[in-house]
Amino acid sequence: MKLRFSPTGNLEAGDIKMQRDPLKTPLCDLLDVELPIVCFTHCREVAVAATRAGCFAVLGEALRSSDEIERDVQWIRDQVGDHFGVDLVLPSGAPRSDGPDQIYSEIPSTHTDFAKRVSEEFDVPEPSNEVVLRKWGGNNQMIAREQIEMALDQRVPVIATGLGAPEYLFQHARERGVKLISLVGSTRQALRQVERGADMIVAQGYDAAGHTGSVGTFSIVPEIASRLPGVPVIAAGGVTDGRHLAASLCLGAAGVWTGTVWLTTEESDVDPLVKARILTAQGEETTRSPSISGKTMRVLSCPWTEAWQREDAPSPLGSPYQMMLSSGYLQGANDARRPDLMTEAVGQGVRFVEDELPVERVVERLAEGARAALRARVAD
Ligand SMILES: Cc1cc2nc3c(=O)[nH]c(=O)nc-3n(C[C@H](O)[C@H](O)[C@H](O)COP(=O)(O)O)c2cc1C
Repeated sequence: MKLRFSPTGNLEAGDIKMQRDPLKTPLCDLLDVELPIVCFTHCREVAVAATRAGCFAVLGEALRSSDEIERDVQWIRDQVGDHFGVDLVLPSGAPRSDGPDQIYSEIPSTHTDFAKRVSEEFDVPEPSNEVVLRKWGGNNQMIAREQIEMALDQRVPVIATGLGAPEYLFQHARERGVKLISLVGSTRQALRQVERGADMIVAQGYDAAGHTGSVGTFSIVPEIASRLPGVPVIAAGGVTDGRHLAASLCLGAAGVWTGTVWLTTEESDVDPLVKARILTAQGEETTRSPSISGKTMRVLSCPWTEAWQREDAPSPLGSPYQMMLSSGYLQGANDARRPDLMTEAVGQGVRFVEDELPVERVVERLAEGARAALRARVAD
């Protein structure tokens, strides 16, 4: 088998035997890391451990205030220097300045009544704690702008955006030398984001945790890589094993972007009850549902996602209304400490996440597994 890396790090026809280490792609130079692995996480301890193990870490900050972003950026910088990114979710349809109470008050009673029925049916208690997500279900464009301005002011080296990005982000990022990564779920979105100025594209397949499009990783990665020669394309969706990393490079990716695989690491702050569910879950136990946020999102199936597929369910609302609605159930399930009710964004590759390991060990397994898989294919 003949393989070679193009200048962007995307793998092309050539001879893999010529490469001293097939995992040294130009993405490693671009991000100044040892391995072509991006670790997406909400947990700063995971981010630091992944950076120390040779990956590039991107901290998910969409649900944090600008003050919290400042604090996290400073904390990570103190540990590992300027070697990380921040991810923000900036849906273009978010209200300009409406607060959570205003948004909640606009939800039709058909929907609040149905949500109440689901909670009663599954004995989900009324939340006893503050409904944390409700605050963010009402995330509006003013808050999003404050988050972006904080990330830019802090001179974060890389900003990643899921679900769209406003024009001023591209403009200000360029002026300040910040690299932009756009997560996309279709080729059309990828072309558009590059045209607007994205430096790297995360081609995210249907298999992935979180908001996804409708095309699988095996189709979307080579399609985008071949339509965007010269742009580093990073594969996401279902990468939880070294074979997935090897396959992603063979599909034309410059590296991988990973989320699910870090949820159960020793450093991760995911609720231990959810960690235990993830460690035994199979890919079929995840579902792609609009019932949590209003946009199709892959999560662990739970009574809430199942109920919204029933015939008596109203059509889920758009974002942010549906998130405001689901937040009461999610908080009640957490407060009740009932793993059968709880959920989390989890991808189909969950099947290969079986042990709670230190981040360093997960990285070793991904890298060693990929090298072994690539060697095995060229051995004869
Ligand atoms: C718990 C969790 C939360 C996520 N939240 C976000 C988010 O806030 N912003 C974002 O761009 N992607 C988010 N994602 C998606 C990841 O960035 C990534 O694309 C995805 O996890 C890749 O698929 P994988 O989980 O199969 O590795 C999330 C993923 C997980 C597991």
